[in-house]
Amino acid sequence: MPTRATAIAGANIAFIKYWGRASSSPLVPLNSSISMTLDAAHTTTTVAFADDYADDSLTLNDAPAGAEAMLRASRHLDRVRALAGTAARAQVVSRNSFPAASGIASSASGFAALTVAAAAALGLQLTPQQMAALAREESGSAARSLLGGYVEWDAHAPDQACVRQLAPETHWDLVDVIAIVSEAAKPVSSLGGHALAHTSPLLGARIAALEAALAQTRDAIARRDLAMLGEVAEADALSLHAIALTSRPPILYWQPATLTILHAVHRWREEGLPAYFTIDAGPNVHILTTRAYAEAVAQRVRALEGVSNVLVCGSGSAPRLTDEHLA
Ligand code: PMV
Repeated sequence: MPTRATAIAGANIAFIKYWGRASSSPLVPLNSSISMTLDAAHTTTTVAFADDYADDSLTLNDAPAGAEAMLRASRHLDRVRALAGTAARAQVVSRNSFPAASGIASSASGFAALTVAAAAALGLQLTPQQMAALAREESGSAARSLLGGYVEWDAHAPDQACVRQLAPETHWDLVDVIAIVSEAAKPVSSLGGHALAHTSPLLGARIAALEAALAQTRDAIARRDLAMLGEVAEADALSLHAIALTSRPPILYWQPATLTILHAVHRWREEGLPAYFTIDAGPNVHILTTRAYAEAVAQRVRALEGVSNVLVCGSGSAPRLTDEHLA
């Protein structure tokens, strides 16, 4: 009989982003980061271990996973197996709540859900911090998805305190309106981007500015101050993309529609709509606003040329186990 467990974990959007590594193994980020866990963008994953499975298998959104995804999942399962002292192979079935080709990064919610489900299936009693320390080895941003609400991943803290909740999801009705402009794979993976960051002559300037930006972000969250948060989140996203653009070789994640949305957000703000943008390592734009304005922002985004889909996410809770198994 296989032993199995199913977990649901939210993706997250970083206001201050992790870009660049001080060390790859163990994974130490160059800087601390702060995010909000998302409610409407999540991954559900069932992991079943059995001694008679010949090898690991992975089904992603109802289709067999490609070689790269399989390799990463297996490598991650090895970390959990090592802790449990087992060599049993696993059958993994995983599904995202967001469209498969939406261009939304699923690695944060995916590796958070895989960590929680695999640990539970093997009977490991791990704290969220221990699971975050495991998850970050495969996807740095996944570490923050082990907690709900507003979360800081501290670059300098020991493993048992690497992530901490700054405020629960009920603290503030902040909303992330995600404007999807491209469903194509990005030109350079975030893994490649982290490595190339060190070739940018601007990296030192970014790192030097981060302590103040982190402090402003913590403060803005505590005060529920959208203007304060939005200002620092926009600056941080542009700083990350400045590093990407000045890496050797350069990485250009933006599409024409990306820029259309950035200008639109500034225009809407001048017109009185409280909206601020942030952009991950890709062409999609996340627009931060509060619940009262979310529908107005979503409507305006849908009307922009080049936007193929819009997702509205509030702040979500920590991963949870469920009995509704996918397999
Ligand atoms: O989660 P990773 O290791 O693929 O890194 C991605 C980091 C960004 O999403 C670009 C920023 C962040 O902190 O979420």
